[in-house]
Amino acid sequence: MTTLRLRPEDPADTGAIRRVLAAAFARPDVATPPEVRLVEELRGGDAWLPELAMVAEYGGEIVGYALLTRVTVCSAAASVTARPGGSAPTAGSAPAGGGVPAGDGALTAGSALAGGSTRTGGGVPARVGGSVPALALGPVAVAPHRQRIGLGTAVVQAALDAATELDERLVVVLGDPAYYRRFGFSRADRMGLTSPWSGLGEPWQALLLPPTDSGEPPTPHGEVLFPPPWSKV
Ligand SMILES: CC(C)(COP(=O)(O)OP(=O)(O)OC[C@H]1O[C@@H](n2cnc3c(N)ncnc32)[C@H](O)[C@@H]1OP(=O)(O)O)[C@@H](O)C(=O)NCCC(=O)NCCS
Repeated sequence: MTTLRLRPEDPADTGAIRRVLAAAFARPDVATPPEVRLVEELRGGDAWLPELAMVAEYGGEIVGYALLTRVTVCSAAASVTARPGGSAPTAGSAPAGGGVPAGDGALTAGSALAGGSTRTGGGVPARVGGSVPALALGPVAVAPHRQRIGLGTAVVQAALDAATELDERLVVVLGDPAYYRRFGFSRADRMGLTSPWSGLGEPWQALLLPPTDSGEPPTPHGEVLFPPPWSKV
């Protein structure tokens, strides 16, 4: 039986991860798919969370990848509310707009976190002044010769489970709803989350992770700020 191992990437994996991404996202018009550069620019930056860069090793070969990195949800402090009776906040409570500021400083997770939370790095910052941490899922890739046997589902779920263990609360993704709904993602605009991609409608999705303790943490909503590497995809 072929063994599947799901684990965070380590430094020796970077070449194999690059090959998986390049093969999964290959297009005739580009030598290097933007997803390859996205991962390489995120890696080592402020948004990188080493426990949440997950590989699928199948039969000893790295063939799958799912990445969660830090983004920040910015909203007026007053509009970050606990979910009354478990219902999501309305889209109307989100700030107007949705465009990401053009300046690098405004886009960086580090600068956003510095302005609105008490930490940088791997754990979950406390909310201060209406800026809350969240995660972006992507890229997700499985090498073409190993697609459609469950590896993509397994590696994404492993990344989401690891995020839950770290007390993360919110994950956003831009992708095909037909694929991501199996993990519980639904339309992010209906959760009051905006981004440069909100106008796309269904592909802009979000998932609330289950709380690990008995409390019901606040549900973030507002504008999701992505760090600079995302502006190139
Ligand atoms: C998307 C991807 C990661 C899925 O990985 P996988 O290992 O093939 O997926 P799984 O075997 O876990 O799941 C297969 C299921 O996903 C569906 N699926 C696969 N790719 C899909 C896609 N691009 N859109 C919608 N559904 C997709 C299949 O129809 C299948 O559905 P079923 O379970 O109802 O039969 C993989 O196909 C891939 O790397 N694609 C190229 C890169 C890409 O598009 N990444 C996602 C960006 S949003």
